[in-house]
Amino acid sequence: MWKFFRKKKKNADMPETYVVPGHIAIIMDGNGRWAKKRGLSRSYGHRAGGETLRKIVYAARDLGVQYLTVYAFSTENWKRPQEEVNKIMEIFMDFFNRYQDEFSKIKCRVRFMGREEGIPADVMETIRKIEKVTETGDQIQLNVAFNYGGRQEILDAVTKMMAQENRPPLIDETYFKQFLYLPDVPEPDLVIRSSGEMRTSNFLMWESAYSEFWVSDILWPDFTGEDLKQAVLDYNNRHRRYGGL
Ligand code: FPP
Repeated sequence: MWKFFRKKKKNADMPETYVVPGHIAIIMDGNGRWAKKRGLSRSYGHRAGGETLRKIVYAARDLGVQYLTVYAFSTENWKRPQEEVNKIMEIFMDFFNRYQDEFSKIKCRVRFMGREEGIPADVMETIRKIEKVTETGDQIQLNVAFNYGGRQEILDAVTKMMAQENRPPLIDETYFKQFLYLPDVPEPDLVIRSSGEMRTSNFLMWESAYSEFWVSDILWPDFTGEDLKQAVLDYNNRHRRYGGL
């Protein structure tokens, strides 16, 4: 999504006008390394990562971003030691409980995207609660990719599509896309990955086909609104051609 946005006071260091990536997706990587560097437990890093996410929601909103999608927990993350998985679940529930009223107040709508199957009932309940509480939010939408895998999303979409009685004989992109987890959300314009890894790790496989990528060496808990601004400025120098000239 493209639009020009007049700067707000908070964005005084941004150009007078800039193109806002309407949808930014983030792979929040590096919590474990951040904690290790400080001699802290990995779960401390995840907790710090949650606080960073809260700040980035504000920074994104102030820049004029309409959708922020974050990779919170992948379908592969269950392979981590049970103790870490349990801690991460606890941190998610704390986060959603603690910030549901705040997000509602700032009109940030929170939505879940992923495979519900396999998520502990109490975690799912917390997610559904924050979705309900923030339902009318229209300043920014935070999509939380949780128990999410890009390939799994495509397979789930195929399964849903195959169950349709009146399926057209030829499947085109427009028909297929409606079976993805959040079909009404536009594709991400910019995908950011923190902590230097140059891979997509099964994130938004379908949706990010033409997204711009921006990788930062900064570990996620250290990521700030200034880094987000830098990503947006770099995005402004990209020439998106979608395969054309
Ligand atoms: C990657 O860091 C991060 C995760 C697997 C979990 C992400 C969770 C958060 C940022 C917590 C807050 C999120 C919400 C929605 C409350 P890593 O453990 O892979 O770090 P490493 O690569 O340094 O080991």
